[in-house]
Amino acid sequence: MAETWHPASWRSRRALQQPAYADEAAVEAALGQLRSRPPLVTSWEVDRLRLQLAEAAAGRRFLLQGGDCAERFEEVRPEIITSRLKILMQMSLVLVHGLDLPIVRVGRFAGQYAKPRSADHETVDGVTLPSFRGDIVNGPEADEEVRLPDPQRMVEAYAYSAQTLNFVRALMDGGFADLHHPEYWDIGFVQHPMLRREYQHIVDSILDALRFWETVTSASPTELERVDFFTSHEALLLPYEEAMTRGVPRRPGIYNLSTHFPWIGMRTADPEGAHVEYARGIANPVAVKVGPEMQPSTLRALIRRLDPEEVPGRLTLITRFGVGGIESGLPPLIEAVRSEGRTVLWSCDPMHGNTETLSGGVKTRRFESILGELQLAFDIHDANGSTLGGVHFELTGENVTECVGGASGLAEGDLGRAYISQVDPRLNVEQALEMAFSIVKRRRRYGPPRTDS
Ligand code: PEP
Ligand code: CO
Repeated sequence: MAETWHPASWRSRRALQQPAYADEAAVEAALGQLRSRPPLVTSWEVDRLRLQLAEAAAGRRFLLQGGDCAERFEEVRPEIITSRLKILMQMSLVLVHGLDLPIVRVGRFAGQYAKPRSADHETVDGVTLPSFRGDIVNGPEADEEVRLPDPQRMVEAYAYSAQTLNFVRALMDGGFADLHHPEYWDIGFVQHPMLRREYQHIVDSILDALRFWETVTSASPTELERVDFFTSHEALLLPYEEAMTRGVPRRPGIYNLSTHFPWIGMRTADPEGAHVEYARGIANPVAVKVGPEMQPSTLRALIRRLDPEEVPGRLTLITRFGVGGIESGLPPLIEAVRSEGRTVLWSCDPMHGNTETLSGGVKTRRFESILGELQLAFDIHDANGSTLGGVHFELTGENVTECVGGASGLAEGDLGRAYISQVDPRLNVEQALEMAFSIVKRRRRYGPPRTDS
């Protein structure tokens, strides 16, 4: 492996999951435009996130990361962005209250436009087409023109990310997360009386505590209202990530300034591969998705590559085994990290190992499998003297019917009603909120997470 890292050093490695662009000059032109654009995030925000992730790894915070499997250009709309932010805020409110820990809030948004695919091609109605790789590469329609990878889509993805992030920042600055405005906290779609009751109880008790605190301390509301929201996406399309990777004046380090928190997907986590080579040199905190194929020796090699200097908060491992695989898969990996003498932030993605295809070809996930894997993750970390410090969900603020189960008993027959996702099935608002309550109930029963210091 070349020892000198630079933002393009990944190019000498094997890069999986990259589109085959037909016109190299057009790719260069698009990347040239991206290189001249302002960053989407700042290095000091990235550093602040890293410190918060270090606290989560030590059991003093809890990471909530969630959003769409894939953002769509056509869904960069105010109501969609607002409702996604709202459900993440509502989940974080339940978690803050129930876990008694500050929450690190990270959206899978403002850049989650590239998707890994198991096959390069698919056949639709007898016609073989390049697979849909996310809006940053091509379009999902079964049309040969639309499926051709178009480098200009990278420039569009940058613009849509900027529009999304601009609106998120404006909402947060404008008091979107302000508890004094209960209308922001309204759980419109949630019908289930028990969920509504439990949620209202939490909002009321937090408001009471807030009023008490403001009375006794005369604290300025703005201090209390300040809520951070960070962005993340899978750093899959390496030319795009490279173009957004820069040094900053008067600060050491080279940052990916398209997002605070890039992650490496399960399919591209080879320690010798291009994605790991790219990620090893950037100053951002990075996460890696870890699944059933990951060998303890490979994980040790990954840790040494990605975090040679043992920087607190630098590395998050997001496990995604599926409810049937986590009991055998996770303990050896916890042991591998321990044998390296490392602290990482462990997070659980209970979505990607639990995808099923129904007989009609529809992809779904069962609420009980998602919850089951999550509960096992807590149990296994507890039993192995480790800490589960975060969760990773695919969810939407829309009232979709993509995952089955949950308090409202969504059945397979209901999936046709509002199935929108072009890729993986997401939790809807009610299922997402119920998931947050389930995490809290489980921690209450077993006591608070272990603190390492
Ligand atoms: C994803 O997070 O959408 C994804 C593709 O995950 P994984 O790499 O874990 O399969
Ligand atoms: Co997904």
